[in-house]
Amino acid sequence: MISRTPKESLTVVTDLVLPSETNPLGNMFGGELLARMDRAASISARRHCRRIVTTVSVNHVAFSKMIPLGSVVTIEAKVSRAFKSSMEVVMDIWIEDRESGTRKKSNVGIYTFVAVDESGQPVSVPEIIPESDLEKDRFEAALRRRQLSLVIAGKMDASEATELKALFN
Ligand SMILES: CC(C)(COP(=O)(O)OP(=O)(O)OC[C@H]1O[C@@H](n2cnc3c(N)ncnc32)[C@H](O)[C@@H]1OP(=O)(O)O)[C@@H](O)C(=O)NCCC(=O)NCCS
Repeated sequence: MISRTPKESLTVVTDLVLPSETNPLGNMFGGELLARMDRAASISARRHCRRIVTTVSVNHVAFSKMIPLGSVVTIEAKVSRAFKSSMEVVMDIWIEDRESGTRKKSNVGIYTFVAVDESGQPVSVPEIIPESDLEKDRFEAALRRRQLSLVIAGKMDASEATELKALFN
């Protein structure tokens, strides 16, 4: 069985916020960021499994800071955990300060992708071996997020979500 590390799926996408991508307050339109995240995360998932991938779930997106017109936005995406055919991708979103060049974190996004064959049927993906402490934390938490997403989607009975339930004990 092939295994890969999260850093092999690292995908970094940097782009500007243009006027057509903003809301009436002059800040980045949320749907624009979601689309950019989907693209970056799908490349990351593809790098992990080297197959065709499709988005199956947007698990979490926090729009914690406004992103003004003209900002330089960087999305860093990495696969945090691979299951049978599905992969969770965690993204950190950074905004660059024009004058100092320093970056501050603006958002976090977590999407799930499924690897599929030419007819769109799910296929197995390589396992992932986390290396850094952050990668190990995200790997552990990914199982709970998967259970939550499947319960909400009506694809798992809450009684089977053992690791998720343990959080509340
Ligand atoms: C993704 C798709 C191929 C999955 O097919 P399916 O017959 O539902 O397959 P399964 O139920 O076996 O699910 C496949 C995997 O996705 C996971 N999955 C399904 N729904 C999920 C959800 N809401 N959250 C997290 N994982 C989910 C399953 O747990 C399974 O993972 P595993 O193989 O790692 O255990 C199918 O639903 C599809 O084609 N959806 C449309 C995708 C699309 O067009 N996306 C673009 C946005 S429009």
